[in-house]
Amino acid sequence: MPRISHLYFKTAILFLIVGIGMGLKMAISQDYSVIGAHAHCNLLGWVTMALFGVYYALNPRKAERRIATIQYGIYTAGVTLMVPSLYLMLLGNTAMEPVVAVASIVTFVGVLLFAFVIFSSEQVAMTPSTPSYR
Ligand code: HEM
Repeated sequence: MPRISHLYFKTAILFLIVGIGMGLKMAISQDYSVIGAHAHCNLLGWVTMALFGVYYALNPRKAERRIATIQYGIYTAGVTLMVPSLYLMLLGNTAMEPVVAVASIVTFVGVLLFAFVIFSSEQVAMTPSTPSYR
């Protein structure tokens, strides 16, 4: 499996652990105010990242490209900033609103980069090889 797929799965499982932790906390406390953070942590963190990882595993040539690493970095930074800031905002910390806004845009940029990866060709730059005289 390509390195980027491993990275995506390792990151995704951490979000699932945190997301389930939030879900259990909501269920035990019967306080559902952070439901949005729980849902986004599980869906943007666990589900979407795992899907990205599967896509790169199925398209190993695209996984080798630098844009894949950049896409991983931007998307992961966005979600990692978005989940805790959304959690705090939903608990009443209004100062977190601009942070959530910026994190959402960064996450969206990560998604747009993934769209670019999907629509780009599988071709990688070829270095000229020794001519064949056969
Ligand atoms: C053991 C694991 C989980 C627990 C304990 C848990 C717990 C909860 C709880 C207590 C709620 C609030 C329900 C209510 O409003 O009455 C909720 C909502 C939600 N959960 Fe989870 N959850 C878990 C896993 C997941 C996973 C894996 C996902 C997505 C992949 C997910 C997505 C959602 C969504 C989208 C909502 C909002 C549903 C709505 O607004 O109707 N949850 N969860």
